Amino acid sequence: MTAWRGVLVLGLMVGMGVAAQAPVTLKDAYKADFPVGVAINTAQITGQDARGDATIAAQFDSISPENVLKWEVIHPQPGKYDFTLADQYVAFGVEHHMWTVGHNLVWHSQVPGWVFRDDQGNLLTRDALLERMHDHIRTVVGRYKGRIQSWDVVNEALNEDGTLRTSLWEKIIGDDYIAKAFEYAHEADPQAELTYNDYNLENAAKRDGAVALVKKLRAEGVPITCVGIQDHDSLTWPTAQQEGDAIDAFAALGVKVSISELDVDVLPSVFGQQTSDVGAHAASNPKLNPYPNGLPDAVQQQLAQKYAELFRVFVAHKASISRVTLWGLTDGDSWKNDWPVRGRTDYPLLFGRDGEPKAAFGAVVGVVR
Ligand code: G3I
Repeated sequence: MTAWRGVLVLGLMVGMGVAAQAPVTLKDAYKADFPVGVAINTAQITGQDARGDATIAAQFDSISPENVLKWEVIHPQPGKYDFTLADQYVAFGVEHHMWTVGHNLVWHSQVPGWVFRDDQGNLLTRDALLERMHDHIRTVVGRYKGRIQSWDVVNEALNEDGTLRTSLWEKIIGDDYIAKAFEYAHEADPQAELTYNDYNLENAAKRDGAVALVKKLRAEGVPITCVGIQDHDSLTWPTAQQEGDAIDAFAALGVKVSISELDVDVLPSVFGQQTSDVGAHAASNPKLNPYPNGLPDAVQQQLAQKYAELFRVFVAHKASISRVTLWGLTDGDSWKNDWPVRGRTDYPLLFGRDGEPKAAFGAVVGVVR
């Protein structure tokens, strides 16, 4: 019996003699707490993954675009925007009445090199780059005004020690590129939730750097309304205490918190420390890929317990949380299979490669049922 049928049959048995019960879904289980979201890929956006689309519509009440709103996709050349996939993504959200997230406007990655250079290949002046950023944000946010409810305005601007990352944005414009991005986004859609989004915010040094940044922005009147804690996690990190402390630290500043990119890596750590820096890579090695043919039950249970622990923290902090988003639908969809080592078999999400809910799904639903 498939897991779906198992859930359905259980529902029918429980309801026997009364009324048949529908299977429990994530969005219904967490209705009183927060929207539960999922990052969707091109196959799901274009309808090529019909099985995935049915699960997304049934289970989730928020979506994020895994890649299609990133600069390199939506604005590949000077003056040339390509809204083909982004329009389909937003239409999916509208059709299913979902809290639709825009990811992202200003990042050091997945941004074409031309953005920072003039026709001769020289780095732009501050004013010229600000004008380019302004045009991009005005065009993209303006187009989806009222249909995208929440924007990741600035993504991953901090180093692990909490200092500002050196990027071409920062080098050419200066530290206030962050404030400017939020101002432009607010100007283009005054109603939208505007987020600073980063990983490893549960580690004290980076969290404190982000707290200082958000405090400064708020004191200057910059329209930031949310911090996205990505939560690219492992079986041992972050602890419940670290997770709760991070949420509390941002909530105390008067902003909402979104859990924006949740997944839980079960494979051996490659760098000896937690990171989600997309620039980090390592060579493949069979020792780093221990479960190519399936996840042992003991690890499946550990994964379920870690998910339950995290969702217990989210529920305890629900007054501060605007959404919880899984970074992908099924294990087969996950970026983790190719990062930081290509071709591994990871199991970081709530649905398996067969599209069926895993033990971790039951554990997440079990937190509130
Ligand atoms: O589109 C090309 C395709 O044409 C080509 O054939 C194929 C061959 O490798 O690559 C495709 O591009 C890939 C792209 O995803 C779309 O699938 C890139 O190689 C791959 O590097 C890229 O990875 C994305 C990654 O961001 C890149 O920065 C992941 O899907 C996406 O999950 C990940 O998401 C980020 C968030 O935006 C920010 N936070 C961290 C998170 C995980 O890295």
